[in-house]
Amino acid sequence: MYFIGIDSGTQSTKSLIADGETGRILATASHPTPLIENLPPGHKEQHPEQWWEAVRVSLIKALSKSGVDPREVKGIGVSGQQHGFVPLDKEGKIIRPAKLWCDTSTQKQCEEILEAVGGLRHCIEFTGNGVPAGFTASKILWLKQNEPENYARLHTVLLPHDYINFRLTGERKMEWGDASGTSLMDVKTRTWNKEMIRAIDPKLADKLPPLVPSSEPMGILLPSIAEEFGFSPDTIVSSGGGDNMMGAIGTGNVRPGIVTASLGTSGTIYACNDKPVIDPEGEIAAFCDSAGNWLPLLCVMNVTVSTELIRSLFDMNFAQLDAAVEKVPPGSDGMILLPYFDGERTPNVPDGTGVWFGVHAKTWNPERIARSAMEGATMTMNYGLNRLRELGIKADEIRLTGGGSKSATWRRILADIFNAEVVAMSHSEGAAYGAALQARWIYAREKNEKTDLIQLSEYWVKTDESTRVSPDPNHVSLYRELQELHDRLSLSLRDVFPLHRKIIEA
Ligand code: XUL
Repeated sequence: MYFIGIDSGTQSTKSLIADGETGRILATASHPTPLIENLPPGHKEQHPEQWWEAVRVSLIKALSKSGVDPREVKGIGVSGQQHGFVPLDKEGKIIRPAKLWCDTSTQKQCEEILEAVGGLRHCIEFTGNGVPAGFTASKILWLKQNEPENYARLHTVLLPHDYINFRLTGERKMEWGDASGTSLMDVKTRTWNKEMIRAIDPKLADKLPPLVPSSEPMGILLPSIAEEFGFSPDTIVSSGGGDNMMGAIGTGNVRPGIVTASLGTSGTIYACNDKPVIDPEGEIAAFCDSAGNWLPLLCVMNVTVSTELIRSLFDMNFAQLDAAVEKVPPGSDGMILLPYFDGERTPNVPDGTGVWFGVHAKTWNPERIARSAMEGATMTMNYGLNRLRELGIKADEIRLTGGGSKSATWRRILADIFNAEVVAMSHSEGAAYGAALQARWIYAREKNEKTDLIQLSEYWVKTDESTRVSPDPNHVSLYRELQELHDRLSLSLRDVFPLHRKIIEA
């Protein structure tokens, strides 16, 4: 028996086929999903139809690479970029492109929602979370205010992975983990919150789909889909979840005590907990996971965004980037990058832009620019990690996933800045693997098998011990000092960023 994990990400969609007995990955395939071009600054959108096409293409490629008979596939799990707003009409047609997690154009709507519910303290009381521009709530209000004719057609609010589930099963539902990133669900009770809904539109309540526990299937495949791919018509589609929730499952982060850092376009650090972890300042997101627990999480928007900018600027491949970084001592001779290229969520600087500090003749060269980019992205994550630690999460060992975790050079920097042991996984497809594992777990539950998710994940998920790095005490103290500067620099520019955006948008 086989299980499929699909991860519908911002840059591409990946499909992965795993052996249901051993967890061995038999094949992976991907297909790109570019952003819509030439939108104004801060606007980040994609068309969900394009996600579906990428699912179809990557699935067909992965099945053919694996040689697996599709009739032997017992379950499919879907992971997706969090927070994107997929507006569907009554017939299930997409009304307009989805505004994404990295869209920072709805800051005004965030402020209006916060004001309507009586401020951040109340908002956190109602949901466990604030209303960052990345989350779904402000995107809905944006539609209502900016495109009333589209809003009038809105019948169902879905998130990206829900939309893929909808195409696979015909069901319009949300599961707890991804729904916790809307700012509309109370993470304590896992129900839609009336005050938050009212702040946008009392009628929105009818447009939010039913919430289902993450441990349940979303449904079975539509007959037309089963036929198209040759799957058996009783193949289950598990609840799925946001990519971070699925990354948690795929890195074995399904019991308290484990911390994962994901280094992709965005960077996230999260830890499974058996109770909600709520940050009174709202800096750490109080998410549910997609396995029945909670997942306090910090998200920075510019991680491989930073290194990719440098690679394209200097036309470097990955090995050349690492070699350039290695030529420079820790701390880049004092050059610091605030990598808020597309605005930033943690810290909350939606109007932010990139800033290099400490630029002079000795530092302004490709090597130092490259190293400071890697360090700056890591220090931005570390700002949030420090907050996560203040909330009681212990992070002595951190499991790494995502593209950035493949670089030995970056792993050394991560260990030294995080002051924690870091170790990568034996596979880098955390979210797609987690989606396949969740499908395996839910299939087992449906069949009344005794295995639980913790047992299954201990069997499936392996760290790659050859990648383990311990922090170097000399580097740790230098980075601690630089971190202080980094955070102060960031604070001192908070008033400047919005003025700057106003000028360039005018
Ligand atoms: C997390 C977040 C990002 C996206 C990336 O809150 O917004 O990590 O999920 O796909």
